[in-house]
Amino acid sequence: MQLLDNHVVLVTGGGSGLGLGVARHCLAEGARVAIFEVSESKVRQLQEAFGPDVLVMQGDVTRAADLQACRAAIVERFGRLDALIGAQGIFDGNLPLRETPLERVDSLFDEIFHVNVKGYILSAHIFADLLEASQGAIVLTTSTAAYAADGGGMVYTATKGAVRSLVGQLAFELAPHVRVNAVAPAGIAGSQLRGPRALGLEEQKQSDIPKDAFLSMFKSLSLLQELPTPEDHGPLYAFLASRHNKIMTGQTVVADQGLLNRAVLKAPH
Ligand SMILES: NC(=O)c1ccc[n+]([C@@H]2O[C@H](COP(=O)([O-])OP(=O)(O)OC[C@H]3O[C@@H](n4cnc5c(N)ncnc54)[C@H](O)[C@@H]3O)[C@@H](O)[C@H]2O)c1
Repeated sequence: MQLLDNHVVLVTGGGSGLGLGVARHCLAEGARVAIFEVSESKVRQLQEAFGPDVLVMQGDVTRAADLQACRAAIVERFGRLDALIGAQGIFDGNLPLRETPLERVDSLFDEIFHVNVKGYILSAHIFADLLEASQGAIVLTTSTAAYAADGGGMVYTATKGAVRSLVGQLAFELAPHVRVNAVAPAGIAGSQLRGPRALGLEEQKQSDIPKDAFLSMFKSLSLLQELPTPEDHGPLYAFLASRHNKIMTGQTVVADQGLLNRAVLKAPH
């Protein structure tokens, strides 16, 4: 008996990084998996890599029609949905307030909030009835940026705070049928988190940051010094997505290698 036997799991933003690692873990735990992803090239690669085992669909979480098409494909293929895992996101390039041109604030705000927040609201709206029918779960992705400064710029940070609040409200509204929780990671190895078009940073990815520089900074600050891989997050997401979670709803689990558990800056070891 595996953790996700008899579970159908959808991962939005599952084309790379965290979502892809979590999707692979869910598969290994016995789930039937669907991935919804905006990047056409990632979708093609995943369709080739997984073959018919995984339903990989191209679409944009900011567009209700794309999510409805995804819902229809899931119902046709699997007839049910047990867990919605939200893993999409885009970053704001860490841009400080004073370096953000005033005339870009509107487009920057809209672009990042639409993907990072509205995408989760639309997904919850469109899949809620399937999840209620299966007594299922929603697991969203926020960030340590929702708890502490300097995990992103002002817009990214505001979106992650919004997701942290959203899980509380969704847990309240969908109880007792659907459990709703979130995970707040810190750094993730191999992330391709991209910047916003509004700043011309859509080609900039987190994986472009020189690995050694990022790794040594992360290791100097976190208690568990390894930068986690997306797969390392798999068991936590899988548990929250599973019917084995009978004890948590409305919560955000800070999964940060102990990064925030510091009051004084000195080397931990
Ligand atoms: N990378 C980190 O250090 C880190 C830290 C904390 C939280 N997070 C969060 O983890 C989540 C996953 O990020 P990641 O680091 O794995 O980045 P990633 O870019 O590798 O994965 C995100 C995926 O979402 C997809 N996506 C973006 N916009 C979309 C849209 N409109 N519709 C559908 N799919 C879309 C991307 O194409 C990508 O495949 C994000 O919510 C991110 O904010 C990341």
